[in-house]
Amino acid sequence: MDGTGQAHDRAHNRQLWSLVNERFTDADAAARWSELDISWGLFRIPDADLGLLGDLDGLRVAELGAGTAYFSAWLARAGARPVALDLSAAQLGSARRCQEQTGIHFPLVEADGAVLPLATGAFDLVVSEYGAAPWCDPARWLPEAARILRPGGRLVFLTNSVLAGLCVPADEGFAGEQLLRPQRDLYPITWPEGGTEHHPGHGDWIRLLVDAGFVVDALHELYPPHHAATHEWYDIVTADWARNWPAEDLWVATLPG
Ligand SMILES: C[S@@+](CC[C@H](N)C(=O)[O-])C[C@H]1O[C@@H](n2cnc3c(N)ncnc32)[C@H](O)[C@@H]1O
Repeated sequence: MDGTGQAHDRAHNRQLWSLVNERFTDADAAARWSELDISWGLFRIPDADLGLLGDLDGLRVAELGAGTAYFSAWLARAGARPVALDLSAAQLGSARRCQEQTGIHFPLVEADGAVLPLATGAFDLVVSEYGAAPWCDPARWLPEAARILRPGGRLVFLTNSVLAGLCVPADEGFAGEQLLRPQRDLYPITWPEGGTEHHPGHGDWIRLLVDAGFVVDALHELYPPHHAATHEWYDIVTADWARNWPAEDLWVATLPG
């Protein structure tokens, strides 16, 4: 995609996320900041159950597409030193308010996840929980993530599963049990009422990660626990659907030391 197309997608996505902030995430932000455990995704799967992040004390972390930055807040509470970046000033405004309310402070930076105003080799860990991963082209954001990591640094990111992308209706509502579009149409896909997202197949993700210099450690296909309920307003998949098919992909990759 050319520069004009990228700028158009960015403007569209920024506008969409201002609206989502106004309707949902701003009201939700304080509650999310107050959660004590680090968890992943629609069904809040505890990181401790997955054994992924480990000891965070003192780690320099960049969160790409942080939204209201609750994930960075959890990391800060666990002793990490996060920097939270997002394209949307509205989302970062909610994060700033939560910082004032909680006293948990870290840098909030308005930036495109594919063009990071951060120093080369300055981070131990890059995370994204539905941030840059679906919303930026991985051919652009993965090389940036690799650039800001130190040798031996880790990238951990969560995004929608390819299967969810194939089964979710274009207009509105939850994923069903039929494939609704070719897999090749998911990278990228512009939703009629939404923004432009990037959902490469698993083979493409591996190629893109390797091209950016990463070694792939794991792909965790997440299933919600039995007690998990359908998310209140991200109407992508129901909890029942996600108990049958993986709705979320959690990738772990390392930059060779
Ligand atoms: C689903 S939220 C992720 C934040 C949080 N983990 C959550 O699930 O609510 C997606 C975020 O990506 C941000 N975003 C969209 N396009 C982006 C881009 N090009 N660069 C950085 N952030 C972007 C949006 O502004 C939004 O805050």
